[in-house]
Amino acid sequence: MKFPRLTTLVAATLLATAAATPALAQSSGKLKVGLMLPATGTFAALGTAIENGFKLYVAEQGGKLGGREIEFYNVDDESDPSKATDNMNKLIKRDNVDVVVGTVHSGVAMAMAKVAKDTGTMLIVPNAGANAVTGPMCGKNIYRSSFTNSQPGYAMGEALAKKGVKRVVTITWKYAAGDESVGGFKEAFEKGGGKVVEELAVPFPSVEFQALLTQIASIKPDAVYTFFAGGGAVKFVKDYAAAGLKNSIPLYGAGFLTDGTLDAQGDAAQGLQTTLHYADSLNTPKDNAFRLAYAKSYKQQPDVYAVQGYDAAQILGVGLAAAKGDIKNQDAFADAVRKATIDSPRGPFKMSKSHNPIQDFYLREVKGKENVVVGIASKGLVDPGRGCRM
Ligand code: PHB
Repeated sequence: MKFPRLTTLVAATLLATAAATPALAQSSGKLKVGLMLPATGTFAALGTAIENGFKLYVAEQGGKLGGREIEFYNVDDESDPSKATDNMNKLIKRDNVDVVVGTVHSGVAMAMAKVAKDTGTMLIVPNAGANAVTGPMCGKNIYRSSFTNSQPGYAMGEALAKKGVKRVVTITWKYAAGDESVGGFKEAFEKGGGKVVEELAVPFPSVEFQALLTQIASIKPDAVYTFFAGGGAVKFVKDYAAAGLKNSIPLYGAGFLTDGTLDAQGDAAQGLQTTLHYADSLNTPKDNAFRLAYAKSYKQQPDVYAVQGYDAAQILGVGLAAAKGDIKNQDAFADAVRKATIDSPRGPFKMSKSHNPIQDFYLREVKGKENVVVGIASKGLVDPGRGCRM
């Protein structure tokens, strides 16, 4: 009778050890981070800046977050929503990553959030503002270090209404980010007494603006509000000036219009006013240190995307440290992130209940190669997280 009991005991001990080993390895071995970002196309430079920012923070922590060394796996998402599910599965199923960081494009991010929800994989979004990611798609494994699409637009809507601007035409790419940016603008602008008289759009990532610029010239609004970014923003700002509109119909936009783009836009961007959660002239100790470190490492100035990448790594660091390196402990991770103040180069922020930064939006103006702060357009904007149930 004793013998079988002993066997059972040994077997049980062995089983327990076997069960404990992977968990131990999981929270002490390398943490696999999948970077799903655009490396080609109109948003390629944005993807590079995010990756640079993320890696800068990791390097500042000695290559470790939450006590675990970081190992990177990359996939070029091409800003193509139709490839997003496959790309996400490559990282999760083939490379076995512990966490995915991505991406820039809202349509791609929505597909990523769906896979993250279905598989329980940790996802940190370092740019894409799709309202749904921190709305109906929200979860304790989904975080965003950037903004919600409606927010920069909302801030500009408030600013233009306050200026007494009355009739505005909007122009953007026809996809979630453009629609939601214009939606935020329209909500605040019309609440403040203005009127959006025409909403124009080209399909993403088209840069065929000519016909619509002719239409703007014939409508003669008081101002134009726009959302474009990356290569498309460079082309739009140059075309707007070349069409002779810059001095007759003031152009305003979400700050992506002039962020990371000023070298290429040159004179065409001078004087443009935009709203964003970052600017080049904050002159705070944190931002100065960040800009110096970034310039040293990458031989170029950071932009908003670099900041969002840096802060995505900070969020991962906060959550992982509280979870003692165990990324599967999502309750400890979420609890710590919700309580934390992230010491961002943009200014310190806390996360909303739906895991989006609560932050100020600056009114900026292009002077030379910088987006200089003019003032704060909207203070402490909170993502309403409509439809988010955690
Ligand atoms: C988006 O698709 O959500 C998006 C893309 C580029 C930006 C901002 C938002 O600069």
